[in-house]
Amino acid sequence: MTPVVHARDLVVRYDDFVALDGATFDLNAGEALGVVGPNGSGKSTLLKTIAGLVARSSGELRVLGSEPRRVAMGSIAYVPQVESVDWSFPATVWDVVAMGRFPRLQFWHRFAAADRAATARALEAVKMRGLEHRPITELSGGQQQRVFVARALAQEPQLLLLDEPTTGVDATTERALRDVVRNLVRGGLPVIMATHDLDTVESWFDRLMVLDRRVLAIGNPRDVADSGAYASIREHTHTHGHLRIDHAPHEAHALHPEIHP
Ligand SMILES: Nc1ncnc2c1ncn2[C@@H]1O[C@H](COP(=O)(O)OP(=O)(O)OP(=O)(O)O)[C@@H](O)[C@H]1O
Ligand SMILES: [Mg+2]
Repeated sequence: MTPVVHARDLVVRYDDFVALDGATFDLNAGEALGVVGPNGSGKSTLLKTIAGLVARSSGELRVLGSEPRRVAMGSIAYVPQVESVDWSFPATVWDVVAMGRFPRLQFWHRFAAADRAATARALEAVKMRGLEHRPITELSGGQQQRVFVARALAQEPQLLLLDEPTTGVDATTERALRDVVRNLVRGGLPVIMATHDLDTVESWFDRLMVLDRRVLAIGNPRDVADSGAYASIREHTHTHGHLRIDHAPHEAHALHPEIHP
């Protein structure tokens, strides 16, 4: 079976800065792949490149059998990292989730009963029914995350890309999102998700990737978590005082004042 994502020696540069340096991996149908790595390790870059939003510099990348930019509209759902979204945008919960249907509408078609039903199902899945008329500006961080996941579900994609959907959400919402995503994966939907939460990787993912511009490890989440591949980057960051610091820059500043003169 052709893999959903096929990457070989994938290199992505922003001008002369190399954000991804030779990533090689496959994502198979019906598989959830987690991506962990410190801040700036290229997780968002990887997802954006797969979504066709960022161009690769070299290497091979096939997504759903095509060049990323040639994949049929609506086939890839991409949920961006929450801080990259403009939350002052004046729209209701319903509007945002219904937008998930737009790539699927033919230009001569109206938003039809089937589109309303898919929007409602997506809201139901993330437990946001009853909040349809709320402006998104008035939602909590966890509710905003759920709305964006719902928009992706309403799209009925063939590949779901999630960029740290659990950052800043409470444990109940995290579990609810996990149940939604695991159900979709069981139904055959392939998922790639960036996360910082190493403690829950086993319950979310079938495989886990440790990324630090290069793929340092990929495999069974337990084995990869136990391999120390991720711990070693963090260790390296702390002992060598590199500027890429995971999670708590303020705390790290205090511990390593010498790295910020
Ligand atoms: N549009 C851009 N132009 C230039 N450099 C960029 C751009 N986007 C990202 N970068 C740089 O590329 C590197 C990888 O960024 P990326 O956002 O992929 O990391 P990340 O692993 O998602 O980090 P985080 O955990 O903070 O979300 C960083 O050094 C970042 O500064
Ligand atoms: Mg990111």
